[in-house]
Amino acid sequence: MKTIAVLTSGGDAPGMNAAIRAVARYAMHKGCKVYGVNRGYRGLIEGDLEEMNLLSVCDIIHRGGTILRSARSEEFMTVEGRNQAATVLKIFGVDGLVVIGGDGTFRGARELSNMGIPTIGIPGTIDNDLAYTDYTIGFDTAVNTVLDAIGKLRDTSSSHERVSIIEVMGRNCGDIAVFSGLAGGAEKVIIPEIDWNIDEICKDLLKSKNKGKMQSIIILSEGVGKAQDLADQISEKTRMECRATVLGHIQRGGSPTGFDRVLASKMGAKAVQLIMEDKTSRVIGIKDNNIFDMDIYEALEMEKTFPEGLYELTDILSN
Ligand code: F6P
Repeated sequence: MKTIAVLTSGGDAPGMNAAIRAVARYAMHKGCKVYGVNRGYRGLIEGDLEEMNLLSVCDIIHRGGTILRSARSEEFMTVEGRNQAATVLKIFGVDGLVVIGGDGTFRGARELSNMGIPTIGIPGTIDNDLAYTDYTIGFDTAVNTVLDAIGKLRDTSSSHERVSIIEVMGRNCGDIAVFSGLAGGAEKVIIPEIDWNIDEICKDLLKSKNKGKMQSIIILSEGVGKAQDLADQISEKTRMECRATVLGHIQRGGSPTGFDRVLASKMGAKAVQLIMEDKTSRVIGIKDNNIFDMDIYEALEMEKTFPEGLYELTDILSN
């Protein structure tokens, strides 16, 4: 019988609970013992592990956040911290550790793999900034949250004939901005991956105003700058009325979409299968609708490309 531990680390993402549930239930179905680690790597260092049963993950598939809670651990960045984490895993007899999180979480898992600890990574972050996979758990829900906000802001900015600038999360990755911009019919999407020019934006806004379009939506990725600064610059240069909205952590909450729940369930089961087969130091991804696994070292070396086609399409369709 194998013993599996599961943790969530870094920024939480809707669908993490569905992934925890899948790891726990699939592992129990295969006769494994499962521990939930509270508060990510910090809890691992502190030995905060609880044995899970079928009820531990009952009624969570639809919930945002993570029942295991999450943290960013400074101590885990040190050799002493990681050695302590390894000691705890040994004490609890863990044969495989499943980590659910983003880039920072995976870097932590790579360090543990270097120490010979069998580790599997499940991508859970709203940012969709992991290069090796088409989608991360939580991204689809975050995009839908932004779309809900765009719809509401559209109503009021059209009544007042304003330019609405919506700042979205994503760190240095523009995927949330590009997907929500296209699906929300934004006039402009400004992302870190593409150079932009304030005068060009002002010119396009004035051109569309002259054509009779009285309201515009601009999606600004947080990696570029602040929505209020952009709003001030545009108002000053065009004399159009602008309003800035920062969606912030609203994008990290809420019930996961069907897509994220299915993704999380498939990835959770796959993680357990890999541990059962003694295939570790792997991360799980989705490519062309197929769940796959790859070497964690290779995955972390890949460079993220941005969805250029979608970005261009947004521009074409907004004219
Ligand atoms: O990585 C997820 C994310 O929400 C980013 O989009 C954002 O920049 C960051 O985390 C915010 O971090 P915190 O929750 O620590 O403020």
